[in-house]
Amino acid sequence: MTLSVELIGPGELDGEVSVAAAFATSGEGEAPPELIMATSEPAAARGVPVALDPAECAREGFRAKVGQVLRLSSASGRVLVIGLGGRDELEPERWRRGAAAVVRAGGEGGTAAVFVPPDAPGAALAEGALLASYRFDAYRSKPAPAVLDRLAFVTDRPDELREGFARGVAEAGAVMFARDLVNTPPSDLDPSEFARRVEERLVAQPGTTVEVWDEQRVATERLGGLETVARGSSQPPRVVMARYTPEHPAEVDGRVPHVVLVGKGITFDSGGLSLKTADGMMTMKTDMSGAAIVMAALSACAACDVPIRVSAIAMVTENMPGPNAVKPGDVFRARNGATIEVLNTDAEGRLVLADGLSLAAELEPEAIIDVATLTGAQVVALGRGIGALFGNDQALKDALEAVARIEGEPLWQLPLPEEYADHIDSEVADMKNMGRPGEAGSIAAAMLLSRFVGDVPWAHLDIAGPARSPESSGYLTKGGTAFGVRTLIEYVRTRASA
Ligand code: BES
Ligand code: MN
Ligand code: ZN
Repeated sequence: MTLSVELIGPGELDGEVSVAAAFATSGEGEAPPELIMATSEPAAARGVPVALDPAECAREGFRAKVGQVLRLSSASGRVLVIGLGGRDELEPERWRRGAAAVVRAGGEGGTAAVFVPPDAPGAALAEGALLASYRFDAYRSKPAPAVLDRLAFVTDRPDELREGFARGVAEAGAVMFARDLVNTPPSDLDPSEFARRVEERLVAQPGTTVEVWDEQRVATERLGGLETVARGSSQPPRVVMARYTPEHPAEVDGRVPHVVLVGKGITFDSGGLSLKTADGMMTMKTDMSGAAIVMAALSACAACDVPIRVSAIAMVTENMPGPNAVKPGDVFRARNGATIEVLNTDAEGRLVLADGLSLAAELEPEAIIDVATLTGAQVVALGRGIGALFGNDQALKDALEAVARIEGEPLWQLPLPEEYADHIDSEVADMKNMGRPGEAGSIAAAMLLSRFVGDVPWAHLDIAGPARSPESSGYLTKGGTAFGVRTLIEYVRTRASA
């Protein structure tokens, strides 16, 4: 069962409520936590106290840290108090994590009534609750433990939160679409099935068209990188090109801005002839996250009627060591005419993205943003909570970094130093597909990508670490996270109002 969320006024709370919840903030210094209450009368009827008892908080160790839960018992049923942290806590991220905590502590089945103040951020509440409820049960005979059936946010003036709330529901829907694609086993999500599912979702969106290129088209379009990686697989590659044209376009400097998103779509990365270890392969169905993320972001932009143009290009193939596979030492020609020597077939992402970025640059957009689970070195540098951000345009990088922080999908800028350009010098071709072993691997990969965008403002998100969560916590569920979907949507929205 999936959770249904709603936003209602105090008089609209009907039916049985299995758990009531309210939020609290940490007190300044040694001061005890304080309840944030607005809708006191119906909340009181459900057992929510008017104020917290400092002695009880101290006894329970409740300091209203973000996502911390205090369970109270009352004559009218179960009551949860959810911490939102102090004033210095990141907005609106703490509301996402607070809403997620309600879902995680709310129990199985039933209805939760969550009392929120009239200035709460509606989008964050919807996102936190829905994303925390996400489960991937498609392959289980018996579904995993259920979540709440229904979660009603109760507030005095629901209309003020309505627009944000609807946007949060749409964004969470897009994230869950991408998570499903990532979590689907690789044999059930080969390149053509990826394309089919994206088409199926996008035909329903206003102003959106999808074009799928098959292997013949890949050849006639001279997509040498995609073709080279696909050679080792029995599954043919696909390019998915989605375009969204707004019904009500907004002009910025006399033009309707156009943002092109490009995603790495390796539906399974075995490493190819430079075969990965068994351990290294175990999570490699995740390697199409970038492709899923850009398509999900475009679908939400369309659903939310953003007033600028958005295109998304997914470069989709398996990376396998079949009899026809590319060999270390092979050289191929990419779409833009450059030649690349393949010294490690496991560095395949940059090869397919090279062509994807060329296609993007040919569209002459205002900005290109690519998303990829590109390098193990990214995980070493920044771990699972932070993505690496590269690019050729400081304003674009700064804008993305700022948006990502607010979305709770933090990005950290890494450099593309000219001095490292020779890391990818080849003895026989224009460049090689790996840098120096053990040195700046994420930079070497990004450096190669930078040679395919011409002079279009471009940013590259290496999300190898954050694309998967090793555990279910907060609004992440173990497995694919679709990290970056919400940042891309918000970036496009800010671009429209700039
Ligand atoms: N898909 C991997 C990167 C990756 C590793 C993502 C771990 C998530 C977790 C990528 O295709 C890859 O294998 N990169 C190589 C490049 C190297 C051979 C130059 C890597 O990082 O080891
Ligand atoms: Mn690889
Ligand atoms: Zn890969």
